[in-house]
Amino acid sequence: MSEAQFMAGVIGWPVAHSRSPRIHGYWLKKHGIDGQYVLLAVETENLEQELSSLPARRFRGVNVTIPHKEAVIKYLDEVDRIAQKVGAVNMIVISGEGKLSGSNTDVFGFMENIKEVPVGTALVLGAGGASRAVAVALQEKGFNEIRIANRTKDRAKKIAEELGGNIKVVDWEEKENAFENVKLLVNTTSLGMTGQPPLEINLDNLPKEAWVTDAVYVPLETDLLKLAAKRGHRTVDGLGMLLHQARPAFKAWFGVDPDVDEELRKFVMEV
Ligand code: ATR
Repeated sequence: MSEAQFMAGVIGWPVAHSRSPRIHGYWLKKHGIDGQYVLLAVETENLEQELSSLPARRFRGVNVTIPHKEAVIKYLDEVDRIAQKVGAVNMIVISGEGKLSGSNTDVFGFMENIKEVPVGTALVLGAGGASRAVAVALQEKGFNEIRIANRTKDRAKKIAEELGGNIKVVDWEEKENAFENVKLLVNTTSLGMTGQPPLEINLDNLPKEAWVTDAVYVPLETDLLKLAAKRGHRTVDGLGMLLHQARPAFKAWFGVDPDVDEELRKFVMEV
């Protein structure tokens, strides 16, 4: 193990593909902080034990990724309001006394990434983990109607039931008929990702002023974003969500609110 003064890392299974060590490693170097961010490959049956071992190993905190974002909640001393709403924790801060506090910074990451988009009606494709964080972010930002279309309708219904009020469920086959008044179209499905099937969608009836964003960032410019840009829509790629979700974590663990700049974007996409 390292001699660094401050430790942080990401707990997942599998975890080798995570880009978080590159993100935090870039900022640690940039700010001259004596810290190290490591991969922690942990199976579900070892999750509780791993978490309880972290304070003694000089960990300031950890990110949590697939498949532990929900399961980790029961082992934490506190969970903030946003993470409770999403029902998932992706970031833990460890206090000097060894207390574990959970947050969900995917919500912040998405909000920061769509900072320029005016509020109104949004259409969200997908109803998995990413979709829940996106839906909470849209609610927090003040979107008045959030439509969710998902292949498995029950997953969208569950989000609507749990998050309430302004969430409407749309049939997956009817998504193009749910474009009325849409100011923001968000893809949170894995469709369009390298190695996955394409997202087949016709944007003919999407209002001209609508923005389009994709949670997929490999490739950076997905076919959805390409098509949207060609039709004159303003687009936001998914890398920003990944990079901005890391900022509150870095700040909490290492005391610096870091910047998301072009050099970081390039560095993270190099792998
Ligand atoms: P994440 O946590 O990244 O959101 P996930 O929970 O596995 O990942 O969700 C993947 C999303 O992509 C889901 O909305 C999924 O739809 P289902 O809920 O019906 O599975 C969607 N998805 C994946 N493959 C799809 C496909 N071939 N057609 C339509 N939707 C698909």
